[in-house]
Amino acid sequence: MTPASESHDTVLVVDFGAQYAQLIARRVREARVHSEIVPADIDAAEVRARNPRAVIFSGGPASVNVDGAPSIDTGIYEVGVPILGICYGHQLIARDLGGSVNRSGIGEYGRTELEVTSAGSALLVDVAQRTDVWMSHADAVDAAPPGFEVTATTAAAPVAAMADATRSIHSVQFHPEVVHTERGQEVLKRFLFDVAGCRPTWTPTSIIEEAVASVREVVGGEGKVLCALSGGVDSAVAATLVHKAIGDRLTCVFVDHGLLRQGEADQVEETFVRNLAVDLVHVKAADRFLELLDGVTDPERKRHIIGEAFIRVFEEVARDHQDARFLVQGTLYPDVIESGPKGAARIKSHHNVGGLPDDMDLDLVEPLRELFKDEVRQVGTELGLPEEVVWRQPFPGPGLAVRIVGDVTSERLELLRKADAVVRDEIHKAGLDREVWQAFAVLPAIRSVGVQGDERTYGHPIIVRAVSSDDAMTADWARLPYDLLERLANRIINEVPGVNRVAYDITSKPPGTIEWE
Ligand code: XMP
Repeated sequence: MTPASESHDTVLVVDFGAQYAQLIARRVREARVHSEIVPADIDAAEVRARNPRAVIFSGGPASVNVDGAPSIDTGIYEVGVPILGICYGHQLIARDLGGSVNRSGIGEYGRTELEVTSAGSALLVDVAQRTDVWMSHADAVDAAPPGFEVTATTAAAPVAAMADATRSIHSVQFHPEVVHTERGQEVLKRFLFDVAGCRPTWTPTSIIEEAVASVREVVGGEGKVLCALSGGVDSAVAATLVHKAIGDRLTCVFVDHGLLRQGEADQVEETFVRNLAVDLVHVKAADRFLELLDGVTDPERKRHIIGEAFIRVFEEVARDHQDARFLVQGTLYPDVIESGPKGAARIKSHHNVGGLPDDMDLDLVEPLRELFKDEVRQVGTELGLPEEVVWRQPFPGPGLAVRIVGDVTSERLELLRKADAVVRDEIHKAGLDREVWQAFAVLPAIRSVGVQGDERTYGHPIIVRAVSSDDAMTADWARLPYDLLERLANRIINEVPGVNRVAYDITSKPPGTIEWE
């Protein structure tokens, strides 16, 4: 256990696969309780040793009735700590303690009506008798184990929630951790506070203390550490945390790969060197990256080429810096999950994760790996970073290369940069910087016919993309006012030579992603 967590109550979240455990851990943090994610093979002795206030069994993609599905050491039921089972965890508890789980033939996916059947349920006191919850299951618990009371049902799940108050074991088939479950956070809080008696003491300051302690542990007492700085909030927070941990053993490296937005390189220098007095190496490598990208049109190849070239540049800088062994990156949880860890489906290779070469010489330090963007912004504010850094919109590591469909050339980059600057300027003037998660321009690999000043044109369309989101895992297209869209289109066509058409992307995520590649 890290020193920071000793004075806090801890909840262990047992990971049964996919992305459920992280979201639960995040909701526990939101309730200001410290949480640690542990693998499903944790045994009762280890649980006792970690002395948690409660244990939560997460959801998972498997069926409890399939051979090889993850199970749990049943000794954990005897430890005497309150347990909450969610989805897969609910079914596991039912099966392990003598109930039954069967394939009903009718799955429930998405919004589902839940009927609370027990007025006295400790977890469901804030939930209306009929309420919408988020479900994702094929199997269902059809008989609760002896000693359990059924506290809620749905059409396809006869035991949608159950509780054994004597042993403090509670479980729910639905997902209280997702925003679509009405009062889901209250269900979790009832468990944490009323059932388990946790104290709400965990704050962004505690996250900082824990991260600083664990960075010190990982990088040891000597040697140089490099940090990849992009100018965005993630790497700025990561760098500041590491700086707090090891002081001027840290050197920040900003690689200008030539795929940045207008004015971005100057802004990064300005913020980090002048405002934060960080030791910064500015590598100007635009030609090198453009050469490597010459003729490359496949999105995943672009990402891998950029990811690899990035690391090579870092290794070179590391050799110039007394053989630094560690590389700090501001990788966040959504970057990890979308690059496909532990058998989760890969959506795209985020260049600070999936695009890394296997033969890398540097060990990675990723202090934000478990956090979501809004948590990182809270930590950044707490660390005293300037507002323009904390609230900067996310920008992908591979930069404009994944916003140019097809060939990445300096001419196409220049065109996109100008259009993108207009989008950002208009969003800023409209006061929408914080409301809109990201707003940017995309250059597709097509042309279209237009007419300007009585002349036929055959020019480039620009696609404007603006989305709202909480954590980039899902997103919706932003309902920008029509007059703003009109200003955007007029300005882009008037100010960017070669552009004769502007389209607005109205695709949510899923099915689209935020970036085009
Ligand atoms: P997508 O396009 O997958 O993007 O919906 C989700 C969020 O991640 C950003 N993004 C990246 N960030 N390296 C990063 O650091 C990357 O390779 C990368 N690709 C996408 C994207 O801008 C959005 O905020």
